[in-house]
Amino acid sequence: MGRLDGKVAVITGAGSGIGRGTAELFAQEGARVIAADIADDRGRRLEESAPGRIKYVHCDVLNEDQIAAAIAAAEQEFGRLDCLFNNAGAGGANETVDQISAQSFDSVMHLHVRAALFGIKYAVPAMKRAGGGAVITTASVAGLSAGYGPALYSIAKAALIHMTTVAAVQLAEHRIRVNCICPGLIATNIFATALGLPSQLADTRLDAIAAAASDSQPIRRGGRPRDIAEAALYFASDGADWVTGQALAVDGGLTLGPQGMQQMTAFAPILQALMPDAQELNQTP
Ligand SMILES: NC(=O)c1ccc[n+]([C@@H]2O[C@H](COP(=O)([O-])OP(=O)(O)OC[C@H]3O[C@@H](n4cnc5c(N)ncnc54)[C@H](O)[C@@H]3O)[C@@H](O)[C@H]2O)c1
Repeated sequence: MGRLDGKVAVITGAGSGIGRGTAELFAQEGARVIAADIADDRGRRLEESAPGRIKYVHCDVLNEDQIAAAIAAAEQEFGRLDCLFNNAGAGGANETVDQISAQSFDSVMHLHVRAALFGIKYAVPAMKRAGGGAVITTASVAGLSAGYGPALYSIAKAALIHMTTVAAVQLAEHRIRVNCICPGLIATNIFATALGLPSQLADTRLDAIAAAASDSQPIRRGGRPRDIAEAALYFASDGADWVTGQALAVDGGLTLGPQGMQQMTAFAPILQALMPDAQELNQTP
């Protein structure tokens, strides 16, 4: 028995990283998956890895018609739609808030916010026909606090978290649940791609990225796509039937507080300043 037996999901950005890991786990758990991406080679390889369970569809989420077509493919290929995982994304522009160009703003917001919203727009009618469904979006820890990503990326991810709340309220009456995941540092190609490295090279650096990130959060190992896929599996499953509007941080504890606080190093200057008083007090008979 799989936890997604009989369910059909559309996953964007499924060619690599978090999307690919989720497509593989969903298929193992009994779902049939439309894997949507612009990386055709990777998408086809994914389809070949699970014939009959995963179907690759070329879909640029910047293009509304292609989003509509990828979602329509769920009903055409597999007869229904139960889950949409809005996951495609990229690092984007590095400008600080006082430098942002209209072009950067439009492209980052388009890729993350508009694409996810249009995903919901086209998924809702199909989910209503199925009697309900689950929308999941990949936000980020960068949408929860400042300092975890470039400015525009962080602003876009924060918008996705609020989109989740607004959509959850509007769609609850149709038994459509809407949740998002805020990954911490996950070893994927997103970092190398942002630096302009080719994806084949990026593929060979994933273990190095995981090792480099192992001390970056309280749980001392690098995050992997499977960590996020497990959260997506929960939100997609009937086990989450009463859970909606949530933003789940899956980050090894990254957002729980400054690492230094754990070691009390942030308090060190204060303790140092008080030390003479404490020593004097303790020496008083
Ligand atoms: N890796 C992390 O540390 C991390 C942390 C927080 C959030 N995220 C988010 O996770 C999501 C997945 O990223 P990842 O880390 O797996 O990176 P990745 O680069 O491994 O995968 C991203 C995928 O999205 C696809 N994609 C990019 N633009 C697209 C478009 N216009 N249309 C369709 N597909 C497109 C790429 O081809 C790629 O297959 C993104 O939304 C990203 O912002 C990642």
